[in-house]
Amino acid sequence: MAYGVHSGTILVECGHRQTDERLRLPILVSETKGFVVVRTGRHRVRVAVAGVGNCACSLVQCIVAGRAAGDQIGVTHVQIGPYGIGDVEFVAAFDIDERKIGLDLSDAIHSDPNCTSRYIDVPNLGVPVSCGPLADGLGQFTETVVELAEEAHTTTFTTVSEILQAAQADVLICYMPVGAITATSGYAEAAVEAGVAFVNCNPEAIATDPNWQRRFYERGIPVLGDDIKSQLGATTLHRTLIDLCTSRGAVIDRTYQLNVGGNTDFLNMLDPQRASSKRASKMSALKSRLNSNTQFGAGPSDYVSYLADHKVAYITVEGRSLLGMPFSIEAKLTVEDSPNSAGVAVDALRAAKLAKDRGIAGPVVEVCPFLFKRPPIPRPDSEAKEMILNFARQDATD
Ligand SMILES: NC(=O)c1ccc[n+]([C@@H]2O[C@H](COP(=O)([O-])OP(=O)(O)OC[C@H]3O[C@@H](n4cnc5c(N)ncnc54)[C@H](O)[C@@H]3O)[C@@H](O)[C@H]2O)c1
Repeated sequence: MAYGVHSGTILVECGHRQTDERLRLPILVSETKGFVVVRTGRHRVRVAVAGVGNCACSLVQCIVAGRAAGDQIGVTHVQIGPYGIGDVEFVAAFDIDERKIGLDLSDAIHSDPNCTSRYIDVPNLGVPVSCGPLADGLGQFTETVVELAEEAHTTTFTTVSEILQAAQADVLICYMPVGAITATSGYAEAAVEAGVAFVNCNPEAIATDPNWQRRFYERGIPVLGDDIKSQLGATTLHRTLIDLCTSRGAVIDRTYQLNVGGNTDFLNMLDPQRASSKRASKMSALKSRLNSNTQFGAGPSDYVSYLADHKVAYITVEGRSLLGMPFSIEAKLTVEDSPNSAGVAVDALRAAKLAKDRGIAGPVVEVCPFLFKRPPIPRPDSEAKEMILNFARQDATD
């Protein structure tokens, strides 16, 4: 019962939940002035999520809130190509914790040990959480807080790939714990098999690894990564302070960044071997902005359980200016970790779908420097911002 079609939108009478017959996809129906606005499958970003932890919890809330409000405070890019935040929808989810498996995603995001804030109530999403393969998903510090499902020992990444295909996912977002390189690679492989774009939020090398770059390129699908940035994150603040000093002619002799938090991500990173990829990612994000004589350090520093999902970052910068005048800067950043990354993740999902629409294969170098701490080709922040704006603008009407 369509009244008209415009740019992927069909107006139909109120009260009808429709199916897009051409695409055989359910379509979102929302009410406006006596009509309902129906967005067809072409203008949806169908997302599968691997790891229903704190970041996934905030991401789901961010998208549901964006759908209700159209736009909201703190959104960096209201539109990426034709996609608004409300155009993102979840179609599949994977975890290994038996308290989450089988639940609807809207309930699983608040299951223990997740501890991030509930800013809004998420309605039932009709997306049950499936069991994923364990691989190396648990470390020595998190195996006591996750209740591992037996099924996670026998499930395979082939099954993950089949679920992705059945769900007609466009993008798989990977929220594997730091150090879970086998699990991260397994989900990347499942995405390649299923022909689904891949967004890697953890610091393991996928988008920056030449072999994976080739795999995604040959399969004709985009890959974005690695290690998602936060909107107001310690890395971004630290790089801004460094750029400020150098743009004013000062020399930085020493600088460091300490990070403390109380969520499972920080608990997992108490294991130095697991934390090494996060440390390397943070170090590389700073190294590209410092001269070779500067002494520097950065990484996860400690776990303090009462902080829960709150993170505190301490940054110091010491150096010299004209006549050798010494200076020092100390900054403290306090944020809630997971909502802070959700606003970047929601851009990465839409950029991945837009890249897929445009037939871009392999690493999406135009957007990764703005969105990730360890992109395939690093760029200064001002240049990175220009690049993603250009990418989001081009063909915005398609
Ligand atoms: N601001 C941020 O929070 C931020 C920023 C950058 C990067 N990241 C990265 O994002 C990732 C996710 O962070 P988080 O805070 O959501 O972590 P989390 O520990 O809350 O969530 C991880 C989830 O993955 C599940 N899991 C573990 N192994 C699995 C497997 N094999 N298959 C399916 N599920 C599995 C766990 O049960 C858990 O639910 C981490 O690597 C983190 O470093 C987070």
